[in-house]
Amino acid sequence: MSAKRIGVLTSGGDCPGLNAVIRGAAKTCWRLGYDCIGFLKGYEGLYDPVQYLTLTPQNTTGILNEGGTILGSTNKGRFAATAGVSDRIEIKRELLEGVKCTVNQLGLEGLVCIGGDGSLAVAEQFHKFGIPVVGVPKTIDNDLSATAFTFGFDSAVACATDALDRLHTTAASHERVFVLEVMGRHAGWIALHAGIAGGGDVILIPEIPWTFEGVCRKILEREQQGKKFTLLVVAEGAHLPEGGIVGKLRDGAQAKLGGIGELVAREVERRLLKEVRVVVLGHLQRGGAPTTFDRVLATQYGAHAVRLIHERRLGEMICYHPPQMKSVPIREAVNRIREVDANGAAVQAARALGISFGDGSEEASPFTAEIDETAILADIEANAEFSLEMAKSATAEALAQK
Ligand code: F6P
Repeated sequence: MSAKRIGVLTSGGDCPGLNAVIRGAAKTCWRLGYDCIGFLKGYEGLYDPVQYLTLTPQNTTGILNEGGTILGSTNKGRFAATAGVSDRIEIKRELLEGVKCTVNQLGLEGLVCIGGDGSLAVAEQFHKFGIPVVGVPKTIDNDLSATAFTFGFDSAVACATDALDRLHTTAASHERVFVLEVMGRHAGWIALHAGIAGGGDVILIPEIPWTFEGVCRKILEREQQGKKFTLLVVAEGAHLPEGGIVGKLRDGAQAKLGGIGELVAREVERRLLKEVRVVVLGHLQRGGAPTTFDRVLATQYGAHAVRLIHERRLGEMICYHPPQMKSVPIREAVNRIREVDANGAAVQAARALGISFGDGSEEASPFTAEIDETAILADIEANAEFSLEMAKSATAEALAQK
């Protein structure tokens, strides 16, 4: 065994491509003369009890295309550094000292922390405490600033696109309106990309204010054109016309978003007297094999993260600025969400094709029903424990952080 060692861990929610990063990091370590050890269950494996396995060609073979993570992951636990969109929690000093001790005892040159915003906020606190870390940006939401793409996003979009392809045929056969609710937290990347790739007719995202009139107008417009079915793609974090978001509060953790698809469906149903079906894709978007794009991206992230440690560029996060792999200080990557540009090329192209963002930017339609604010508010109160007031303040807070 060589004296030099590098550690790797996967933290937070899983997504396709984690194993490809682990494999990329391990293989690069060996080529550069390091042993590579993988800590189990995210940051938890770093201390009390220390849990790790030495990564070898034997235990990393065949994992490139496997979903999940061979190292396991923990979403919150003792090392939570975020409670809300912008709330930062200080990690206990005892834990930081414990991790530092583990790193020293194992003789680690550095630790590759693979995670999203919350997990990288932990890495940033480690860095400030003198623990040698580098970051790798992971999340299906694609909402980390400083990188054009996080790995896992493309696979999630592929999953949502496949769902739309399937819904397309059944919707067309039965002349139905379908709502597909997708993940993405406070950014609309998954909804936007899947909506375009899967031929969605209406896309509702947090970045573009929309109205029920706008949504219904598109459905009626299609009907007038003889298209008796419509596919709506709704991002879980899309804001209601009143400005709230739908979900449930969780103690010491980010709110669990979800439920807007159902609200949209019932209001559209009420207005158009037309049956609307809902599919919530949920964690299917986080499972399964990574796409080829994610395999390539994740492999590059793994290899270049080890390069950062080798070059002693600690406290940095590897990021993708096509076609180059660059790096930024982790602190620059964790303080703000990267949102969809409401006037960006993808949105413009979608609009050019006639996709509606529910904002009524299309021509006026015969639809004249008025928004019934009371009914919508009643729906929200009845169906979401995350009240509108809380949602509004969370949203305001998120916006204030931008
Ligand atoms: O951040 C990834 C993500 O899948 C979001 O899209 C979603 O809102 C959230 O995690 C779900 O988290 P959990 O599995 O903890 O409910």
